[in-house]
Amino acid sequence: MLERERVLSPILGELHARLDEAERNGSNRGRPFVTLAYAQSLDGSIAGRGRRPLSLSGPSSLQLTHELRAAHDAILVGIGTVLSDDPQLTVRLVPGSDPQPIVVDSRLRLPDASHLMESGRGTWLAVASDASEQDEARARARGVEVLRTPALDNGWVDLDPLVASLGERGVSHLLVEGGARILTSFLTARLVDYVVVTVAPQFVGGVPALGENELSPFPRLRSWHSERVGDDLVLAGDLSWSDP
Ligand SMILES: NC(=O)c1ccc[n+]([C@@H]2O[C@H](COP(=O)([O-])OP(=O)(O)OC[C@H]3O[C@@H](n4cnc5c(N)ncnc54)[C@H](OP(=O)(O)O)[C@@H]3O)[C@@H](O)[C@H]2O)c1
Repeated sequence: MLERERVLSPILGELHARLDEAERNGSNRGRPFVTLAYAQSLDGSIAGRGRRPLSLSGPSSLQLTHELRAAHDAILVGIGTVLSDDPQLTVRLVPGSDPQPIVVDSRLRLPDASHLMESGRGTWLAVASDASEQDEARARARGVEVLRTPALDNGWVDLDPLVASLGERGVSHLLVEGGARILTSFLTARLVDYVVVTVAPQFVGGVPALGENELSPFPRLRSWHSERVGDDLVLAGDLSWSDP
């Protein structure tokens, strides 16, 4: 059983420094500082075939992930991740406070029997502006807060106004944990400031971290750091869209 001990890691030290800096310069950005974090295999898979959940992170990198969560005000995932993994999105492996959970869920599909619905943590659901009012009332009755957000042409939540509205609600540091469609959309919308990727030394041949949606120019990590954490490699750095 893992103990709730503080993890000492140069990567975490760097991240805390970036978050502090972002706090000082917050008004320049006009939205929260966004960190993208996920675990992948050597071939870039984040899930197994058919979106089967995988435990890619070893025990030590899982603790590091919980430290990442504890460093952010809020944690966001897509409804696809909730439906396949039923995550708790807590910091149960380390000391600290649980971040505010947020699910991007255009059509209010969050199941009544999910950890997030049952936890009583007042999950925020980002739904499309035309989502059913009946479903909204049902979710509110279960203690969920519904954030109606403008919809894109395909009916999905428009992330730009959503992230801006999270800033207005007092979120300074937002951690985005996936899954694949959410990672792709945050990168496509250029809403990412910092990236932390855990690479597990194995091949999977499953669902790639990003959907086929070529980014232009290719965003790359700037002044990045790497660290071996248990049996995994963790890479972290600022994301830059300018050519090298
Ligand atoms: N290895 C890791 O670190 C990690 C972390 C998280 C998840 N995962 C894996 O990722 C898989 C889930 O990924 P996924 O791609 O199926 O689901 P996802 O990215 O978690 O959620 C995608 C869904 O969110 C909703 N959505 C609303 N607005 C959106 C927007 N602007 N952009 C993107 N999505 C939007 C859509 O559903 P509606 O149309 O219903 O709103 C969409 O299908 C699972 O297999 C899970 O195990 C892995």
